[in-house]
Amino acid sequence: MQPVKVALLGLGTVGRGVYRILTGNAANIAQRVGAPVEISRILVRDLTRDRGIQLDPSLLTDSYQDIIDDPEINVIVEVMGGIHPALDYVMDALKRGKSVVTANKDMIALHGKELFAAAGASGAGFFFEGSVAGGIPIIRPLKQCLAANRIQEIMGIINGTTNYMLSKMTLEGMDFDQVLREAQARGYAEADPTSDVEGLDAARKLAILASIAFNSRITLNDVYVEGISKITARDIAYARELNYVIKLLAIAKETPEGVEVRVHPTMIPQYHPLASVNDVFNAIFIRGDAVGDVMFYGRGAGELPTGSAVVADIMDAARHIVHRVPAFMGCTCYEEKPVKPVAL
Ligand code: NAP
Ligand code: HSE
Repeated sequence: MQPVKVALLGLGTVGRGVYRILTGNAANIAQRVGAPVEISRILVRDLTRDRGIQLDPSLLTDSYQDIIDDPEINVIVEVMGGIHPALDYVMDALKRGKSVVTANKDMIALHGKELFAAAGASGAGFFFEGSVAGGIPIIRPLKQCLAANRIQEIMGIINGTTNYMLSKMTLEGMDFDQVLREAQARGYAEADPTSDVEGLDAARKLAILASIAFNSRITLNDVYVEGISKITARDIAYARELNYVIKLLAIAKETPEGVEVRVHPTMIPQYHPLASVNDVFNAIFIRGDAVGDVMFYGRGAGELPTGSAVVADIMDAARHIVHRVPAFMGCTCYEEKPVKPVAL
């Protein structure tokens, strides 16, 4: 069977995880896909940097054109982050009928509708499981397994960096700046960690989940956002005295006035299941009218957990190409629904 050829745009934390999994589990992946999946080219900015992995240097390029003009490459994996040039590359690839896998929540939260339309028009696969909650399967479960339900509420911890920080500040008394540096060193934080600390990363992920769950078009602007930068050691100590812990929660609810979406620090009783979600772990409760409550739990950021979600998407993209099975992630039809302003 002909190999499916993949190009990575980016070889940072997530790209490295994808590389390690695709090369380390190659035989297993080939068996499950029905064809080998090979990395043909990797786009980076700096061709000389030591990447900490065994890598054939001829795979690296600093030219997107080298990649997109190669007719043998049929899956583009965008793990570079940011809006430009990532969006330009992804849009171009989809228009040319190349399947795209991305972990870029900033791009999906802002431009998801155009990207789904471009994928729909060309018939390319478009996959983004890694964009929300790292290694936790959540996009597919919402779109597929829970599709029969009217979703009533989503509530969870969906940013690994801030949960790591709040956990270390609560359990080990660590200082805010020191623990942020640790989260960055572990590869959990965004290139600009302000988006983690100020709640924007969680808000973008919530916009993606709420759009799918409520079959609506929720954007970052619809989400009430408050981050953790004002949380002090004293707040944490007061919460503890009252038998509470502070967590950054993301909440989306269907109400008679519209969908309500918000991200903010919340005092949670110590006995609540979310209170014991620590370190880089994320947890998401979903309430459906038929299924009742379901909970998803796992590592919400980092090289291999996120790589796990991205590689599963690459395998689906490869199956779409090899076996001509439908690429379900590409077809998302939203209704325009009202959003309820959050009054605190
Ligand atoms: P990162 O460590 O900063 O890596 C970004 C990579 O993209 C680097 O290899 C960089 O090249 C390359 N790159 C960036 N801009 C480029 C440009 N203009 N041209 C060519 N190459 C460029 O980022 P990351 O943490 O892997 O995150 C990547 C994406 O995954 C982001 O959208 C992020 O939100 C998302 N994500 C991250 C995590 C996580 O745990 N980190 C989890 C889920 C989703 P150089 O190495 O040469 O600088
Ligand atoms: N910066 C993000 C987080 C990466 O800490 O959750 C995973 O999306």
